Amino acid sequence: MIFGRVKPLDAILATAEKKSLHRSLGAFQLTMLGIGAVIGTGIFVLTAEAAQKAGPGMMISFIIAGFVCAIAALCYAEMAAMVPVSGSAYTYSYAVMGELLAWMVGWALILEYAVAAGAVSVGWSGYVVGLLEHALGIDIPNMLVRGPFDGGVVNLPAAAIALLVTWLLVIGTKESATVNAVLVAIKVAALTLFIILALPVMKMENFEPFAPLGFGGISAAAASIFFAYVGFDAVSTAAEETKNPQRNMPIGLIGSLGICTIFYILVAAGVIGGVGAQPMFAADGTGLRPGSIELTAACSAIGDGAVVCSKEALAFALRQIGWPQVGNLIGLAAGIALPSVILMMMFGQTRIFFVMSRDGLLPAVFSKVHPRYRTPHVITILTGLFVAAFAAFFPVGVLADISNSGTLFAFAMVSIAVVILRRTDPARHRPFRTPAVTVVAPLAALGCVYLFFSLSHETILLFVGWAAIGLIVYYAYSYRRSHLGRGVVDVAEDDADAPPVPVPPMPGAPTPGRNQA
Ligand code: ALA
Repeated sequence: MIFGRVKPLDAILATAEKKSLHRSLGAFQLTMLGIGAVIGTGIFVLTAEAAQKAGPGMMISFIIAGFVCAIAALCYAEMAAMVPVSGSAYTYSYAVMGELLAWMVGWALILEYAVAAGAVSVGWSGYVVGLLEHALGIDIPNMLVRGPFDGGVVNLPAAAIALLVTWLLVIGTKESATVNAVLVAIKVAALTLFIILALPVMKMENFEPFAPLGFGGISAAAASIFFAYVGFDAVSTAAEETKNPQRNMPIGLIGSLGICTIFYILVAAGVIGGVGAQPMFAADGTGLRPGSIELTAACSAIGDGAVVCSKEALAFALRQIGWPQVGNLIGLAAGIALPSVILMMMFGQTRIFFVMSRDGLLPAVFSKVHPRYRTPHVITILTGLFVAAFAAFFPVGVLADISNSGTLFAFAMVSIAVVILRRTDPARHRPFRTPAVTVVAPLAALGCVYLFFSLSHETILLFVGWAAIGLIVYYAYSYRRSHLGRGVVDVAEDDADAPPVPVPPMPGAPTPGRNQA
């Protein structure tokens, strides 16, 4: 077995059978779930970053990122429907590609979820600070509402919202379907209003030059704007609760991503046509890097009067085209809706840590459950402190790019896992099968690799450094502590405090306690 310790799929599925959730979700609810999880900081805030990287060509970037996300989602859905348990890509990889790669995926998912939660917190802060300033005349000094790379010292509102969401998670808050529906309505209404007001005043000359930084700029913006589509895994992880998943799952995934893509392209067109979206250049003619001190300085020089400088791109555009009050309303909508995206991201992170801890790869204290609230409070608080620290000190674009690096790695691994499992275990029941898997899965993996390498060199280096730390932690700690490595396979889903259950090795499974690489 080339992959070393592989967790038997049957043991993982025993967990799902224990849970056995009621199948109640239809295509419409799934689509709503997807839109609720997907629309957030990406479109409300990162549009400015995409414009700085690609200019008007960012419209193509939105299409590229949406397409890669959609085909990766089709692969994700096959695994999610087959292995409908907590831990998403980490769990799938454990069953197919073994512990080491699963560990690396879990390690990368920390970037996906925790860093993304930080990014959305910073995005939220930008809108709320803008709203306070424009609607109530409260001008908070930049020092307190921007991180050190953004012309400030610490982003206090961003850290505060991260800590507030942490507290909600500790006391066991989950978003109900009704709350999700209301928030989806708010977000969709805000974007629709933007489109209705911005499209009629579009100036075609604002689309020239269309790609001032060439196709490289369009690819770089696609890699960043990919963030705007992340979150659809909320749909695939609901596979077990879906009626007729073979039909409804692709409708939910492709439907929500398709609807978001249409909104995003129209919003991008509105921003470009309404106020222009040309990048700021350095003296040597290259585009200034978003989230850099140089861009901040160039923006201060023009009084932040360009969309690429704005922390609240959509509200900025509306104020520029003569709708200041509606701009404030958009700020209010973002202020109300974005915390739920932070909540979902942090929830996902804590559950992945929880499962990794239950597998023995992280310390047992991480899966400690609060006696009263029945939530994994230790890991939730720890995650919350890190998220608050990211949010306090880093710009939104930098955090979103780092998050994308982890997500793209995890998505590529899942796309590969789907193909491997089709070969190693063809007879297993698959409630949803990726259509044309021999084309879609390799294309998804290649698409993720292409976007990954379109990220900035700094981001790629950071990812490599993070992966190296992950390997050190694995060999220094997790390898020896792994329950699977010690011959026990956990099948409990809810009772984290219960001792792991020893099971006999599955046919074809590795001999417990020995690395077989
Ligand atoms: N897609 C989510 C957002 O844009 C993460 O905020």
